[in-house]
Amino acid sequence: MDISFAYKTQTLRKAKADCVLIFLPEATDFNPAIEVSKHLEALPKTVHGYINETLKLKVFSGKSSDLQVIFPPDSPLPQVMLSGLGKPEKITSESLRRAAGKAGKRLTEMKIDKLAVLIPDFLSEDLGNTIGPAVVEGLTLGSYQFNTYKTKKSNNTPNPIDALIYDPQKQSSAKAVKASKIKADATNFARNLGNAPANDMTPCVLAEQAQAIAKTHGLDYQVLEEAEMKELGMDMLLGVSQGAEEPAKLVILQYTHPKAKETIAFVGKGVTFDSGGISLKPGKDMDEMKFDMCGAAAVLGAMQAIGALKPKVNVIGVTPATENMPSGTAQRPGDIVKSYAGKTVEILNTDAEGRLILGDALTYTAQKFQPSAIVDLATLTGACIIALGHHASGAITNNEALMSKVQAAGASSGDRVWALPSYEEYDEQLKGKYGDLQNIGGRAAGTITAGLFLKNFVEETPWVHLDIAGTAWNVKGVDHIPNQGATGVGVRLLVDLAQGWNGL
Ligand code: BES
Ligand code: MN
Ligand code: ZN
Repeated sequence: MDISFAYKTQTLRKAKADCVLIFLPEATDFNPAIEVSKHLEALPKTVHGYINETLKLKVFSGKSSDLQVIFPPDSPLPQVMLSGLGKPEKITSESLRRAAGKAGKRLTEMKIDKLAVLIPDFLSEDLGNTIGPAVVEGLTLGSYQFNTYKTKKSNNTPNPIDALIYDPQKQSSAKAVKASKIKADATNFARNLGNAPANDMTPCVLAEQAQAIAKTHGLDYQVLEEAEMKELGMDMLLGVSQGAEEPAKLVILQYTHPKAKETIAFVGKGVTFDSGGISLKPGKDMDEMKFDMCGAAAVLGAMQAIGALKPKVNVIGVTPATENMPSGTAQRPGDIVKSYAGKTVEILNTDAEGRLILGDALTYTAQKFQPSAIVDLATLTGACIIALGHHASGAITNNEALMSKVQAAGASSGDRVWALPSYEEYDEQLKGKYGDLQNIGGRAAGTITAGLFLKNFVEETPWVHLDIAGTAWNVKGVDHIPNQGATGVGVRLLVDLAQGWNGL
């Protein structure tokens, strides 16, 4: 659904809209911790009175995920949507994002042209100017739908909505609101890439999408074709693609700030379909392996937003893109390949392919661009879902300072990150019998050994790896994330990291 925002600092009292969205905390008889009645005075009198009645009748409790639409008679605002923020002492910018997400989901089922949104002014000062942006993000993310492949448009095809953000206390700014809309749109773009089926989202199409972003935002675009990768000696990456008819691509986007001295690089796994190769996956849920390019989608989404927001640091986005298919030309278990970095790798399982394509992409990125930091994102291991489920991405690093920065960006964006131990002792599990390394490290600590495999290919560059296998799709119960399909995880984290980086 299309939703656009305008930012206003005047009172809402004279607003004309089909619906007004209000956020309220959970109220208990014992804990009237937040004085909201003053906040509601910004509303026309009839509306204010009617909301009070609703609260008294306990039709709406303000618990998180609680959403109620009421219809005050004789009001200039015929519909009032109340969205709950939960317990006052627990409200964070993520609570706001979720409450707005829930509202966004409901709005897709309503016929509304004009929406007024009242920015809450009763929240803790720590939230500062994150309040407006969190609301805009939540609304944009929550109203996302993926209908591209439905031939019958439903009767309730939503209207585009003009949303007016009323912030009479000037807690936010037009600029911050605009930036958060750009981030949320980029997240929805990444969701579209992830949700597209593998017959339409091939490495070639991924490259075209990157090229389109470059064109819109004046980024530099480059693609290495298989012949060039062969020339360079990227046999670890090419080994994965050799069973597929679709050619592999190494796609590179480059954003340059005229004054920046520092460069950071994002690398995203772009396996457009992961059948497992000769180590074929079981049939159940194999369709979900179209999502195995969600790391690449996050990088492309982030580059789109970065192109628009122009942070003070140079940013490189790299996505190795390939299918992993079984065929007469496919890589075999037992094959030994030479990586771009020069190390040899025994392929003991062709389904551990993400680390192979990322390894060569990481070395290329480290050598060619000499960045101050690399963050890679990959749907790398099923083991990460076992370890962390669907509410945090797992992180591995060779540099604790960078890890802290990535965790901070995870917290501010809501793309939560959980650091796993990156102890050297685990490296032992990856020593090869016949080659330098082997591409699997056994059942123990599968997510950690997969991450540490990559460490061999970043040289000395500070690096963080994010395993997004659990967070890239199939996330339930988060109101700004669709209940099925791609989440766009990583986009907002990467953008926050770039925007917080002073590379001048
Ligand atoms: N893309 C998968 C990881 C994955 C599986 C993500 C299921 C989300 C859901 C990856 O390429 C893979 O197959 N990893 C193997 C590694 C194993 C062979 C060491 C896995 O996790 O089973
Ligand atoms: Mn695999
Ligand atoms: Zn994979």
